[in-house]
Amino acid sequence: MNNLLLEIQNGIALLTINRPKSLNALNSETLSELDTCLSEIEKRDDVKVVILTGSGEKSFVAGADISEMVNATPVEGSAMGQLARKAFGHLEEMPQVTIAAVNGYALGGGCEISMACDIRIASENAKFAQPECGLGILPGFGGTQRLSRLVGKGRAKELIFTCDMIDAQEAYRIGLANKVVPLAELIDYCKAMAGRIMKNAPIGVALAKEAINTGSDTDLNSGLKLEANLFGLSFSTQDKKEGMTAFLEKRKEKHFIGK
Ligand code: CAA
Repeated sequence: MNNLLLEIQNGIALLTINRPKSLNALNSETLSELDTCLSEIEKRDDVKVVILTGSGEKSFVAGADISEMVNATPVEGSAMGQLARKAFGHLEEMPQVTIAAVNGYALGGGCEISMACDIRIASENAKFAQPECGLGILPGFGGTQRLSRLVGKGRAKELIFTCDMIDAQEAYRIGLANKVVPLAELIDYCKAMAGRIMKNAPIGVALAKEAINTGSDTDLNSGLKLEANLFGLSFSTQDKKEGMTAFLEKRKEKHFIGK
């Protein structure tokens, strides 16, 4: 991998987009590496949480690579969008929980990849924007769809039409960021959150992720039906027996095995 760093430890995969000279902008090669790397991670039972971040202290991801897009044809532009859709889709659909540790600029494709993650933790210096309309294009890595679902249509339209850059506190206020922490504490904060998630039953967490994701794209009644079915499915696990038995035995220690 030329553009990614991967460190797997204690159930957590720390995946760093590493193109510091272009503030971690996403070119096709990086998107392709993300696709391959995430499809490998999603098959691993020993990884329960993925933390995605950018290298350096200034930028998470400063967007799609403008130097690659400037001379791209419509067919090439569309291929880039499809590649991002596939790569980002892993973050959204993988059974593991994905946390974006937004350590600086999250612009265009950077804001978009953070929104494909389940949770966004922003450092105090983080800045979010969808600057595409100022480049003569529109958000193409999910921004028009995921931003409106996260913060509502009105706010999404305002951010996309104006290209305004917002700081971490404003991102928190509108629900784009789950939490704002000092930059020096960002990765530890995300790891601690991962630790709290990993104390729970992995299949329960994965099924809840599926119910929330699929359910929020459908009508309430279909979502509730899906939830009832997945709820039933969780009763087939050994972890359900363990979690409930531990409660009844007033035992704090639980031994979840992911089965
Ligand atoms: N693509 C390619 N290169 C980029 C880049 C990007 N998105 N963002 C930054 N860089 C490069 C710069 O060209 C510069 O390279 P050189 O040193 O070779 O000149 C280097 O990174 C450092 O950037 P700056 O000198 O501009 O740093 P700064 O501190 O003055 O500004 C910034 C930082 C505000 C993030 C500014 O770089 C910027 O505005 N970047 C572009 C942001 C943007 O428009 N992103 C959206 C891209 S379009 C998109 O993402 C489409 C989509 O929907 C997928």
